[in-house]
Amino acid sequence: MPVKKIGIIGGRGFVGAELIEILNDHPNLELEFASSSSNAGNAIPGTDLTFIDVQPEDIKQFPQLDGLILALPNGQAAKWVQAVDQAGLDLCILDISADFRFDAGWVYGLPEINRQLLHGARRISNPGCYATAAQLALFPIRDMLAGPANIFGVSGFSGAGATPNPKNDPEHLKDNLIPYSLIDHIHEREISHQLGQPVHFSPHVASFFRGISLTIHLNFSAPINSEALRNKFEEFYQDHPLISVSETIPEVKQVVHSPTARIGGFHVDETGRHGVIIVVLDNLLKGAASQAIQNLELALGTGQSKRN
Ligand SMILES: NC(=O)c1ccc[n+]([C@@H]2O[C@H](COP(=O)([O-])OP(=O)(O)OC[C@H]3O[C@@H](n4cnc5c(N)ncnc54)[C@H](OP(=O)(O)O)[C@@H]3O)[C@@H](O)[C@H]2O)c1
Repeated sequence: MPVKKIGIIGGRGFVGAELIEILNDHPNLELEFASSSSNAGNAIPGTDLTFIDVQPEDIKQFPQLDGLILALPNGQAAKWVQAVDQAGLDLCILDISADFRFDAGWVYGLPEINRQLLHGARRISNPGCYATAAQLALFPIRDMLAGPANIFGVSGFSGAGATPNPKNDPEHLKDNLIPYSLIDHIHEREISHQLGQPVHFSPHVASFFRGISLTIHLNFSAPINSEALRNKFEEFYQDHPLISVSETIPEVKQVVHSPTARIGGFHVDETGRHGVIIVVLDNLLKGAASQAIQNLELALGTGQSKRN
């Protein structure tokens, strides 16, 4: 199978670094370049390449690309898409920011839920980390819910990116837990939009580096017990090796540096109408970089790796 060539815009970020590491070890996808304006000229770890400063108008110099990953802050993607279109390049653009997650012209890349849409896709928007975790926990039971799910989320501070800000400031985070965007967080809108029903989401950032944990309270329209609830998930994910389902409560430590998500801790009260589930994943991997690679593998038809 021919190796597909991938460019990364935003290669010095936390997600960019994970993408580079995955591509260095990938049998069918090869890093062609990674851009960073602040790190231009510096070696890219694990490769013979150096970071280069690429601007949108330069993209026409890379007609050999099969895929372009945009790992930039929100609001930056459109100019790259426009430049690719203007250059007439036939490649798959995968955007890791939120810029196209509500755009019906783009495929929303959550492979355990909509894998068939990803085959041959040319424009993919990668879900947010909390949005990935919440949807993995809610899709299998969305027809059983009465009212909005209530999602309490805690993220390691890498979720706030490498560019300094109060949510990744070690001094501010020390011995602390910071609630933020408690109404109308972009992931609340994203989850509700994809799921087709409202959810309530309260994000927090903590002093550990990577990983997220979501505790989700649910109300059911008909009574169910814990075992039946767990069975629903086991059945739903039986053909998806990256999603594991456990009776016990999953913890962040079990998924960091791993492309997997764990769903567990299925508790339902005596009425059978109120339950809780927990989901954990690595925000930089299943919540960003490894999911991006899953999506590109499906879009470019490179065959499935251990990450799919
Ligand atoms: N961190 C996570 O857990 C996570 C999870 C899911 C999705 N995402 C999304 O993935 C994207 C990248 O996240 P990240 O955490 O890797 O961010 P980051 O660590 O802050 O990296 C941002 C990258 O974008 C480049 N950049 C270009 N224009 C920029 C600008 N105007 N301001 C700041 N940086 C700019 C930076 O490099 P140069 O400045 O050197 O060019 C850097 O390579 C974001 O859209 C984020 O929302 C992040």
